[in-house]
Amino acid sequence: MFLETRLLDDGFAREVLGLRLWEPLDDSTVDHLRDLWAHHSVLVFRRQVLSERELADFSALFGPLERVVRTEWASHVVPEIGLISNLKDGQGNPIGGLGDGELQWHSDQSYMMNPATGAALYAVELPPEGGTTSWVDLAGAYVGLPDRLKRLVEGRLGVFSYVKRLAGYQGVDRVISSEAKRKTPPVLHPLVHTHPATGRKALYLDSTTTVGIEGMDDASGSALLDEIYSFATRPEFVYRHDWQVGDVVMWDNGLTMHRREPFDPAARRLMKRTT
Ligand code: SIN
Repeated sequence: MFLETRLLDDGFAREVLGLRLWEPLDDSTVDHLRDLWAHHSVLVFRRQVLSERELADFSALFGPLERVVRTEWASHVVPEIGLISNLKDGQGNPIGGLGDGELQWHSDQSYMMNPATGAALYAVELPPEGGTTSWVDLAGAYVGLPDRLKRLVEGRLGVFSYVKRLAGYQGVDRVISSEAKRKTPPVLHPLVHTHPATGRKALYLDSTTTVGIEGMDDASGSALLDEIYSFATRPEFVYRHDWQVGDVVMWDNGLTMHRREPFDPAARRLMKRTT
């Protein structure tokens, strides 16, 4: 099947038009989507109406689904779906995670030894304003990085800590089970890596989780990371998504970071996420 696509904002994200993700996709369409995702790292599908099973089945075309360490955010219907929401159940308990606050630039699961390749978010309910999500292109940022910074990060390992990530969360999201704690000791990842399919190099970053650079003292490591973050998140590398109900956005965690703007706590926002 021929796939119609368009670049969004003349950047790196691409919208795929005309697909009904609740229907089975033929093999050539799936191959085409995998190839598009390898080259674009953020794909947008609008006007979708998906059950949790359909969202999970579509996501699983790109790799086995994972259940993230925050099992309390999992859907009771399809546990591979995580609920990202400020909504509460009848007893006043959050139905999911990440509330209504700002989320700084991060990459999902960077605190794990083997972070998941990608994720997808499906918009079910949205606030009238705020809550927009942006992605930054870390392959583009690597290409644009001044040679001096490239030399400084090449071959270096960043230290990624879930303890730092948790400190940035709101309220109950800061509390984790002893099982989740056991699964999330600090880990090291190369700050520059290579996409296995395209051979493109990219930075690998997460501003909410990196605490230093292996082999550098704290002050020098932090100073270098600050410089890299302020370069990599320049507006020319960023795609900002204005959500509409029914949007599915999928992204590659190894080639992007994302951030979310805060929204009115009294407004309702419900997103469903696969990993
Ligand atoms: C996330 O970081 O996975 C959630 C982003 C969002 O709520 O828009």
